[in-house]
Amino acid sequence: MRAEISIDLQSRVGRVDKRLFGSFIEHLGRAVYGGIYEPGHPSADDMGFRQDVLALVRQLHVPLVRYPGGNFVSGYHWEDGTGDRTKRPRKMELAWGCIETNEIGIDEFQAWAKRAGAEIMMAVNLGTRGMEDARNLVEYCNGTTDTDYANMRRKNGFAEPFGIRLWCLGNEMDGDWQIGHKTAQEYARLACETAKLMKWTDPTIELVACGSSHPGMATFGEWERTVLRECYDHIDYLSMHSYYGNRSGNSAEYLGCSLEMDWFIGRVTGLCDEIKAEKHADKTIYISFDEWNVWFHSNAQDAQNAPWQIAPPLLEDVYNLEDALVVGCLIITLLKHCDRVKIACLAQLVNVIAPIMTENGGRAWAQTIFYPFCDASLHGRGIVLKTGVHCESYEVENRGSVPYVEPVAVYDDLAETVTVFAVNRSLAETCSLSLAGFGGFVLEQHSVLTGDDLKRCNTAEEPFAVCPTSGSGRALPPRSWNMLIYRRTETE
Ligand code: AHR
Repeated sequence: MRAEISIDLQSRVGRVDKRLFGSFIEHLGRAVYGGIYEPGHPSADDMGFRQDVLALVRQLHVPLVRYPGGNFVSGYHWEDGTGDRTKRPRKMELAWGCIETNEIGIDEFQAWAKRAGAEIMMAVNLGTRGMEDARNLVEYCNGTTDTDYANMRRKNGFAEPFGIRLWCLGNEMDGDWQIGHKTAQEYARLACETAKLMKWTDPTIELVACGSSHPGMATFGEWERTVLRECYDHIDYLSMHSYYGNRSGNSAEYLGCSLEMDWFIGRVTGLCDEIKAEKHADKTIYISFDEWNVWFHSNAQDAQNAPWQIAPPLLEDVYNLEDALVVGCLIITLLKHCDRVKIACLAQLVNVIAPIMTENGGRAWAQTIFYPFCDASLHGRGIVLKTGVHCESYEVENRGSVPYVEPVAVYDDLAETVTVFAVNRSLAETCSLSLAGFGGFVLEQHSVLTGDDLKRCNTAEEPFAVCPTSGSGRALPPRSWNMLIYRRTETE
């Protein structure tokens, strides 16, 4: 099989916002306790943060981490995670049926985020709480006045504000699984009024309103219209969430699921622009795809989980090669929409549907999906080029034609490189490459993630069973994620 990939340096989608490579830590399962934090662990630092985990997080160069949920946030009292740690309450956490000790809260998480080199994307509780608590939290985190909540932060030992710039107005409020689920109109009014108070407290912040939890929601479309009509002037981003999985056991079909993400982004962008036109607005609403990943391996196991445990293993998907290829296709899709998708969070970061796994008291390692995310986060920052591809495709029921090769090219105008990310979805055939528009550039590196067995995983015993190797630069092996870096050698 052959594929021709063509670019033109002048034909551009847009510049990538580094926050496209964000991630997510929720108080869920072993993400916090046993994940980023484990005071008794041999690698724990002075605050009890696992340095083996921090090293892997730093390798991913995650610029942004969403916190503290997810479904968790809709029943959360943020004050429980502040101040004297000996006095923090233990709570029945209703979103996941666990016990929350509150040993970690925003006081500690902001210190962890600094050590990880990431900014925080903070969510407020619009399930059981509302605008009053949201504005108090903004003041606690960012306030500089001599007033109650800013002083509470100072009393807790933080003279300097945390400076959190990006905030989510609740989480998945359209879903009846959500604590304090709301109709579109109920949510839209609350989000609008909360947004006003939060921005009056700190006018430098940016706000994300909840879009639909996934495109299959019965309210998808009308939810977005209602929220946008009500909140347009007060928000900056609309959220999107989507998870994928090989539920039918058909790998060819599964590898095509990024076409659904592509359709979904197009649809939500259209809804934002529809309301922009309706309002005769100059302002554009951008997309925050703040939950995306593969999530299905752990579903059956989680259904057996006994309630009211502290940090039980939940949502611990063990990812294989085919999941890594899907994650690669999803990253390519996000990059192709970088003109509208400014923020995206791989959900999540450690243990819970995560690129990084740990044993309590033991090892930490990179799952298969770590590698495409890492490649893109390190080398996908620049200008996305409109990337043409000529290759064969295959048919998938209800989805149509899926091209065997999914590529995107990113031009780094400082380093003078063009990096091509490409997945070869073919299960059997190598695809030889021909390039158009790469005059003056030579191949510097070809890194490939592939293998004979689509179901191969990395484990504590075999942490590098699936990891990148070098490619020839001339062909994309079957079942592969590829990163090809071309460097300019002459000016045209
Ligand atoms: O990321 C896991 C969960 O998925 C989040 O808590 C929720 O927002 C979504 O349904």
